[in-house]
Order: sequence, then C-alpha cells, then structure tokens
Amino acid sequence: MHLTPVLKEAYCKERLSAREAQAKAEWIAWGPVVFQVCRLMKKFGVLELLRNSDDGMTEAEIAEATGLSGYAVKVMLEASLCIGTVLLDPESDRYSLSKTGWFLITDPATNVNMDFNHDVNYEGWFHLEESLKEGRPAGLEHFGPWPTVYEGLSQLPSQVQKSWFGFDHFYSDSSFRQALEIVFANHPRTLLDVGGNTGRWALQCVKYDSDVRVTIVDLPQQLEMMRRDTAGKTGADRIDGYGMNLLDPAQDFPADKRYDAIWMSQFLDCFGEDEIVGIVSRAAKIMDEESRLYIMETFWDRQRFEPAAFCLTMTSLYFTAIANGNSKMYHSEDMARLVGKAHLEVETIHDNLGQGHSIMVCRKK
Ligand SMILES: C[S@@+](CC[C@H](N)C(=O)[O-])C[C@H]1O[C@@H](n2cnc3c(N)ncnc32)[C@H](O)[C@@H]1O
Repeated sequence: MHLTPVLKEAYCKERLSAREAQAKAEWIAWGPVVFQVCRLMKKFGVLELLRNSDDGMTEAEIAEATGLSGYAVKVMLEASLCIGTVLLDPESDRYSLSKTGWFLITDPATNVNMDFNHDVNYEGWFHLEESLKEGRPAGLEHFGPWPTVYEGLSQLPSQVQKSWFGFDHFYSDSSFRQALEIVFANHPRTLLDVGGNTGRWALQCVKYDSDVRVTIVDLPQQLEMMRRDTAGKTGADRIDGYGMNLLDPAQDFPADKRYDAIWMSQFLDCFGEDEIVGIVSRAAKIMDEESRLYIMETFWDRQRFEPAAFCLTMTSLYFTAIANGNSKMYHSEDMARLVGKAHLEVETIHDNLGQGHSIMVCRKK
C-alpha cells in the first residue's frame, strides 16, 4: 500500500514504550472529556488569559477574570494540567500556557476541526456503531430526516452550518491558488464544477481568466445558496448553475456544450465506491481525448505530516456517522482504481497543495 515516508515511519512499526502506550490508551478512554475541557478552556477565555499574562495566573485570578466559580476553574485547570494544555509553577501556584495550549488557540486547522467536531459531529458520533453496522448516517437523525447531510445543508441550524462550511472552505480555499495554476495551464474555455457548493472556486476561476465560462453542478437547493453568494461579484455573469442529484444514475451531466475541464474538488469523498464509478463514468461520457477531469482530494496516504493523515482518517468517520454512511477520505490507490473502472486513466498527480490536497488529472483511456 502506498504511504509517504513519514507515514511509513509512523504506521508500520511500534514506536511507543509500554508506559507511553498505556498513557495513550487512557487518553483514548477519556477522549470525550479531554475534548470538552479543552474546548471550554478556549471558549471561556482561560487559555487566552494565560497567553496574555506575563507571570501566569492563580486559580483565584482566573475565577475573578472569567466570572466562573472557584470550583469550575479548579476542575478545569487540574484536568488541563494532566491533559498538557497548561503548566503549573509549584512555588507560586501560578498557571501558564503550554505549547499545546498555544496551538489550541492559535492554529487555524485545530480551531476549524474543533468547531466542526463539536457543532456537527459530537452528538452524531454516539451513533457510530449503528452507522457502521447499517451503512447509514445514524448520527444525522437529530438534525433532520434527510438521507444524507447534503440534502439538509441549507436547513441546518446556523451554528452547525457555520462550522460545516468553515471546515469545508478552510481545506479547499487554501489550495485554490495552486490549483488555478494547474487547471489553467491547459487554458480551458469551459469548466464544469461538479459539487461547486457556494461558488467559491467558480468565482476564483472567472476572476483568474476573463474568458472562461463555469457551470456549477450541485443539488438544486445548494444552487440557491450559490446564487446568493456569487450575486454581484466579478465575473458572476459567466457562472451558470445546473441542478441535479448525482446519486440518481439516470441523471446525466449537461450536454449543452463541450467542457474542456471537469473539476471535482472535495466531492468524490462524499460518495461510496460504486457511486464514484457511476459519477466518473457519466463524466467520461461527456469527455473527449482533449478534455481532462481534475479530482482534488486530500488523500490520506499522500500526506507529508502525520497529524494531517490523522485528521483525514478521523474525518472518514464523520462521513460514516453524519454525512452519508458510505463514503470516506480515500487512499489514492483506491481512487485510481475507481477512475480506471470508469474508463479513465490517471495522467498525473500533483501533491502537497495547501493543507494537503492532491490533484489527480484524468483523461480518457
Ligand atoms: C464537500 S462539498 C465540496 C464543495 C467544494 N467543491 C469545495 O471544494 O469546497 C460537496 C458538494 O457536493 C454536493 N453534493 C453532495 N451530494 C450531491 C449529489 N448527490 N448531487 C449533486 N451534488 C451533491 C454538495 O451539495 C456540496 O456542495
């Protein structure tokens, strides 16, 4: 199985001493409360207060500054000490921020992941067991009766929507600049943006190239959000919308014109293997020898850093319990195999864009 050298080093042999392994096992056992304490130390501003203090702060000073009870501050600080987000000076009983605490409040990816996990996933993951056994997103039910999260996106509570889009946009936005260079090196005049969401990529395309026309394919209810978000922006008159549900195998891609480029960013991870073959096969039907399909995904095996692969394999379980019950963040070899089944072949793979995206460029076999 393909793995980058860093991941091979991390995942192919035992690295921990018995003591470290036991500590890690306890971390897992207490994972839910570790998460919640850290989230609240951030939300109540305790970590920020510690960051801004020159000599650290006592429990009493923190209680006074936050308005929390002495009890609340004490239990959170003692837990945080053992988690490792704060440090204690035993002479003065003053707490300060640790390196991990600093990352917790300043690292953009960590912040986006924490909001996503609390607002979108936390309650749903309680139903992971049913989801795994039944192949359905059992953790979505408390939000609404939709078969997948995508049908419900536009109706989710606003805080949940904010965290969902924050997560989605954070990852794809950071790769768009490099992705534009790769896609527009072939000077496409027409581009089909499949799963174009709120139109952020389409807007970048029409700004980058003043001749290109973009057609966004997405669920009809999603296109309404896209039209609202793109209205009045530069080049929006060169963005069209085409509503369709790609889970319906009878629905074909628009055949009104020839598309030089078909773009699928963070899209195929929303589908199970058979569905991917169905979607890519329908894309292949509207392609000729000159057209290219660009699949931009965060493949977990192609990550340069271990935390990135960790985030991705964990994200797979959001797909299991909340999104749709059958999709995941794919291994690049699995995606290449599915592309092959759909009568396309991988021409090149560009790695290390933004937060760890790759672009698989595919052409007709
Ligand atoms: C994870 S988002 C990716 C958005 C965007 N391409 C990006 O890179 O940020 C997946 C998109 O696929 C759309 N989608 C999911 N299921 C779909 C379906 N069955 N038919 C059409 N679009 C679908 C969603 O509405 C959403 O806009």
